Amino acid sequence: MKKTQAVILAAGLGKRMKSSLPKVIHTVLGKPLIRFVVDSVLQAGVEKVTVVVGHGGEKVREALEGYPVVFAVQEEQLGTGHAVASALDTLHLSSPETIVLCGDAPLISPVTLRKMVRRHRKEKAVVTLLTAYLEDPSGYGRVVRSPSGEVAKIVEEKDASPEEREVNEVNSGTYVFDTAYLMEGVKTLSRDNAQGEYYLTDLVYRAFSEEKRVVALVSDDPDEILGVNSRQDLAQVAGIVALRKAEELMEKGVTLEDPYGTYVAPDVKVGPDTVIEPGVVIKGKTRIGKGVFIGAGCYIEDSRIGDGATLRPYSVVTESVVGRGVRVGPFAHLRPGTELKEGVHIGNFVEVKNSRVGEGSKANHLTYIGDATVGKKVNVGAGTITCNYDGLKKHRTVIGDGAFIGSNTELVAPVSVGKGALVGAGTTVTEDVPPFSLALSRVRQKNIKSWVREKMPDLLRKSGLLKDDEGRK
Ligand code: UD1
Ligand code: CA
Repeated sequence: MKKTQAVILAAGLGKRMKSSLPKVIHTVLGKPLIRFVVDSVLQAGVEKVTVVVGHGGEKVREALEGYPVVFAVQEEQLGTGHAVASALDTLHLSSPETIVLCGDAPLISPVTLRKMVRRHRKEKAVVTLLTAYLEDPSGYGRVVRSPSGEVAKIVEEKDASPEEREVNEVNSGTYVFDTAYLMEGVKTLSRDNAQGEYYLTDLVYRAFSEEKRVVALVSDDPDEILGVNSRQDLAQVAGIVALRKAEELMEKGVTLEDPYGTYVAPDVKVGPDTVIEPGVVIKGKTRIGKGVFIGAGCYIEDSRIGDGATLRPYSVVTESVVGRGVRVGPFAHLRPGTELKEGVHIGNFVEVKNSRVGEGSKANHLTYIGDATVGKKVNVGAGTITCNYDGLKKHRTVIGDGAFIGSNTELVAPVSVGKGALVGAGTTVTEDVPPFSLALSRVRQKNIKSWVREKMPDLLRKSGLLKDDEGRK
């Protein structure tokens, strides 16, 4: 596929989405549509990719940040043919063929693209298009064949006669063109049609009438050509992507208790013998190890989860690294920049942010650890809070190996607790605690004998500890 170039059309408004955002950045399992198409084209191994942007172009560029693509701008959206014409400056005759794709059809596979290019070369075609038979062809351009079965033209639904509408072979919007034919052709299209647009598809009719070779490859997977024009289409595609991913994972030895109710994004990797309960969402570039347990309702994004870790139900993990054998949740929140080393326990209602927690340390209940470095084998008692924010700036808390932080401690950062130190429950730590020391900031307790009996006897009556008339003066 060296020497093949690709143009992805992504400038359209997407009116049917009823959105203020460009259509191609709407996401399926957290991944923008346009990235599916670009990934597929890159995997097919093309030399160069141009993305045509227009409406909301900035946002499309953002969605493709870091991708090896160039952009062309279509100022006014005058149709798919006009979109290709807007990209002419980026196309090179040194690439004998050019793949044209729609940015709103995310399921196109790299295998199909390679197959199309091979057929195109073998048959010396000027255009090779991908078609599919759909039970419900509405919304798509229909493929009209000549009596001898050759593709004669593509008719858009809005321009189609009643008989043409009956045709259920549709145009996928993916083509391989002879580059010279495409570059010349798009300059001379007309707008004489129902939508007043320059249709790229008119080049098919032109090639046919000039008796040039037009080849149609019929997709054996009709899902592959689905174009997203509406929110309904988006949901349909999301369902397909989720299910395909589920199949792939099961094939690789992952248990999905409910493959229909689990959303694992396409770029996620999961190791064998991992068990995923219903209602889990895993997005972004997440990597999950072997033998991991992921409880119901967990949400994981752009994170790494080590072998043998357990995420109990309803835990949320974003941009974090969870070590081997770590136990998290239920109801834990690991925010960006969290790194939990091997064997750490993070329990219910514990939030960790931008912090490293060393091997074997535990924070099992109701705690906030933010901007902290926690050593190994530290015990963080229930209700501990790192007070990391003074209203203007964030500060760090450092806790040494083997320290024991009593329940309900406040660590007012910047502050450090030395290794092996003990912080008494309920302490507000405002000064550094030296290693192996005890820190206490509580007021010494005093017990005032019989105070309740004398000052608040009603309280004792209420609980039956005093008779109604007892102790009355
Ligand atoms: C197009 C095809 C139709 C095919 C269908 C497959 C034409 C005339 N019709 O119709 O035969 O069955 O795709 O999904 O080509 N775009 C631009 N600039 C424009 C117009 C569109 O960049 O001026 C982009 C859109 O962003 C979109 C793609 O081209 O990614 C297709 O445009 P869309 O308006 O969705 O075309 P369809 O009506 O679906
Ligand atoms: Ca479309």
